[in-house]
Amino acid sequence: AGRHRNVQGLVRSRLPHRLVALLEEAGRLADRLNVSLYVVGGCVRDLLLGIENLDLDLVVEGDGILFARKLAEAKQARVKAHDRFGTAIVLLPDGFKLDVATARTEYYEYPTALPTVEQSSIKKDLYRRDFTINALAVRLNAKGFGEVLDFYGGQRDLHDKIVRVLHGLSFVEDPTRVFRAIRFAVRFGFRLGRDTEALIEGAVKMNLFHRLSGHRLLEELKLLLAERDAMQAVKRMADFGLLRFIHPKLGWSSRLQAGLRAAEQALGWYRLLYLDREIAGWLVYVVALLEVLPERAVADVLKRFPFTQAEAAVIRAARLNGQAIVRQLSRRPPPKPAQVYRLLCGLSDETLLGLMARSKAEAIMRAISAFLTTYQHVKPLLTGADLKAMGLKPGPQFKQILDRLLDARLNGEVHTELDERDLAARLMKQNAPPPSR
Ligand code: CTP
Repeated sequence: AGRHRNVQGLVRSRLPHRLVALLEEAGRLADRLNVSLYVVGGCVRDLLLGIENLDLDLVVEGDGILFARKLAEAKQARVKAHDRFGTAIVLLPDGFKLDVATARTEYYEYPTALPTVEQSSIKKDLYRRDFTINALAVRLNAKGFGEVLDFYGGQRDLHDKIVRVLHGLSFVEDPTRVFRAIRFAVRFGFRLGRDTEALIEGAVKMNLFHRLSGHRLLEELKLLLAERDAMQAVKRMADFGLLRFIHPKLGWSSRLQAGLRAAEQALGWYRLLYLDREIAGWLVYVVALLEVLPERAVADVLKRFPFTQAEAAVIRAARLNGQAIVRQLSRRPPPKPAQVYRLLCGLSDETLLGLMARSKAEAIMRAISAFLTTYQHVKPLLTGADLKAMGLKPGPQFKQILDRLLDARLNGEVHTELDERDLAARLMKQNAPPPSR
């Protein structure tokens, strides 16, 4: 145990064979090049926690780029090198990616050319990292393969379930680490170290976050809201007074809590239903967050953060047009399926879940889930080709009649193909231009 623990067995049993072989080969290459090689960061943390993580970050005590090129040569892989940072990405033919870095002392340094990158020891490299649990390394050289390097008590903190910075300037160096601290604490069910908590409070008081660009803040927010327990993440942000860096008017309230819970439920339901479908869950939570803000503030947020057009469209549709849609859906008597379909078609799944979360009314949940599970997949049996064969001349009528056929099918007014033919024939006759003489 302790500093000299060897996790060779864990590496071999936890990682896929292919990767173990790759790491061993990399270790032997490092031996030949006479450099030390380590796997570091999240992958090591997760290995020790028993969580799958195949994002391999390698650190070389020596020339990382040269090592990456040699490794790529041996594996018929491609390399993307960033000379300025002494880092490289190795892209294997099967699509697997590997990050390789040169051990360095500074978190932020912008050397102009490779020779100025200071080649420093792994210990200093680890010291510039965010938390003790992320500052562990495992040696890959043949001699000592699997040895854990733990200079800062990372294993102890993993055991005690604590997120702890390595030194007092960590958040000053990089304020996004505040959000990372919350993210890891929420993900693993860890607490924050007492000093770390105090340093976060200090960072909030010093307003370090105003220095962050909208881009970086949004990136962190996305990651936080992509955590499984996003609500807890928002709660922790609120505890530290961090929500106001999203918008000054944003704060914790029972209304916000209810909205987040509803978003969580809608997402949970959706994920059960569509195990294999991707959804930007974080965006559904953003919709829930903005729900408690006045419209003017929503506009501010859309301006401050560089959402993609598609993301902004989701927010606008759910937040700004949402009210009208929800009102229509909750009308009495309830709208027919075809009306529900017309109201909801064209909206993204994220918008739909955002709407579900904002209203929470039984009728709306039912309408949206019927749309998602059924209505959106319904098509008329007849096609344009069938209408043509029935003698319909080219023109806007095609779409009109197909739309009517779809409505009729959604509303259960037609069942068989014959029903549709009858209806189509009637519509064609109704709309036929007057016979010319
Ligand atoms: N790191 C850091 N400070 C940051 C970002 C990253 O010190 N602001 C370091 C940490 O050592 C981290 C490593 O870089 O482990 C890789 O960063 P990243 O891939 O963002 O984090 P992971 O720990 O891999 O987390 P995740 O599981 O969320 O990918």
